[in-house]
Amino acid sequence: MLKGKKIVLGITGSIAAYKACLLIRLLIKQGAEVQVVITPAGKEFITPITLSALTHKPVISEFFNQRDGSWHSHVDLGLWADAMLIAPCTASTLGKMAHGIADNMLITTYLSMKVPVLVAPAMDLDMYAHASTQDNLRLLQERGVTIVEPGSGFLASTLEGKGRMQEPEQIVEHLEEFFARREGRLLGKKILITAGPTYEKLDPVRFIGNYSSGKMGIAIAHYCVSQGAEVELVLGPCSEKLPASTLLHTTRVESAADMYRAATQIYPSCNAGIMCAAVADFTPDTCAEEKIKREGDQLVLRLNPTQDIAAALGKMKSAEQKLCGFALETHNAMEHAQEKLQRKNLDMIVMNSLQDPGAGFQVDTNKVTIITPSSQESLPLQSKKDVAKAIISKFLL
Ligand code: CTP
Repeated sequence: MLKGKKIVLGITGSIAAYKACLLIRLLIKQGAEVQVVITPAGKEFITPITLSALTHKPVISEFFNQRDGSWHSHVDLGLWADAMLIAPCTASTLGKMAHGIADNMLITTYLSMKVPVLVAPAMDLDMYAHASTQDNLRLLQERGVTIVEPGSGFLASTLEGKGRMQEPEQIVEHLEEFFARREGRLLGKKILITAGPTYEKLDPVRFIGNYSSGKMGIAIAHYCVSQGAEVELVLGPCSEKLPASTLLHTTRVESAADMYRAATQIYPSCNAGIMCAAVADFTPDTCAEEKIKREGDQLVLRLNPTQDIAAALGKMKSAEQKLCGFALETHNAMEHAQEKLQRKNLDMIVMNSLQDPGAGFQVDTNKVTIITPSSQESLPLQSKKDVAKAIISKFLL
């Protein structure tokens, strides 16, 4: 989402300035171009040489180039940029921004900006809480500046408190969401995604589950929010990290029955559904109240079928809604997938075979064939992130 975006990164005199290096790396990895503007105090914390090596651009800190006296045009920077991000931003810089005290290059650049500005404050807890700082933040927010709220640090209550600059990963996610909400290709769409395994309880300590990690569904959720869609993620038990986007709403569930309830309730308000979860097909007839003891020679379990969520949504689907399923097969993959496409009234099914190395559960890659009633397209082995993009491009764009 940040590919080709031109970011002016303002760095001020905070100990968190060292984190700007990581921030630059993340931005560049996403394909952004970064121009650093640093305050005199910022240079006390991090050297321009490090920053220019990372950005491949000379760092700007003075009004005039020391060597040849040429003028650094803050006005041109304002025109060049797609966004300005000030991270870390000290209490002093916040104050100067709020009151137009243009005594350094960073503030003049800010005042010349024609594009959105985001700031990630970094300061001590008491300074952040001070009425002056809070007033300045409010003033800036009223003028359309986005504040990337600082976090409470590790051991927050005792040592650092709120004021610690947000982690670079989170700042980049903010920036991504910011662009997603402005120019994403799925703006105005609401998408239901089911993901992860389900756990069917046998007794207080045991369940029947499966190896699904939730990675594929979460990758799809991530891509959808990066394109500005509102995502309703119904997620079975898994420990994968979720995108921090405010466009993502997650409902945690455990069993197939919970997932069925959540999905059928949410789907009517959505434009599309993507059924990525590995839902148990059978659930124990009863869940023992106490731990099942090791008694007798055999333990026979009686299982009942669960509700098929995809098929239920396929039935309730309106003419405007779309539905995509997955099929993980071990044999006769194409035949089974085609049959599921029809039986569940899907518009598309994504088939992967456990026989393909690098495809399926737990891994970060996948090899899929995308099937619609009128087409079939086999994609190469690629990251789940790229598979997510391919699926959404075919399904919704
Ligand atoms: N699915 C579902 N609810 C179920 C079972 C499956 O929503 N109770 C969805 C899955 O999320 C997937 C699709 O249906 O999108 C196909 O799942 P899969 O397990 O491959 O198919 P089944 O219908 O369960 O058939 P089988 O187990 O016989 O292969």
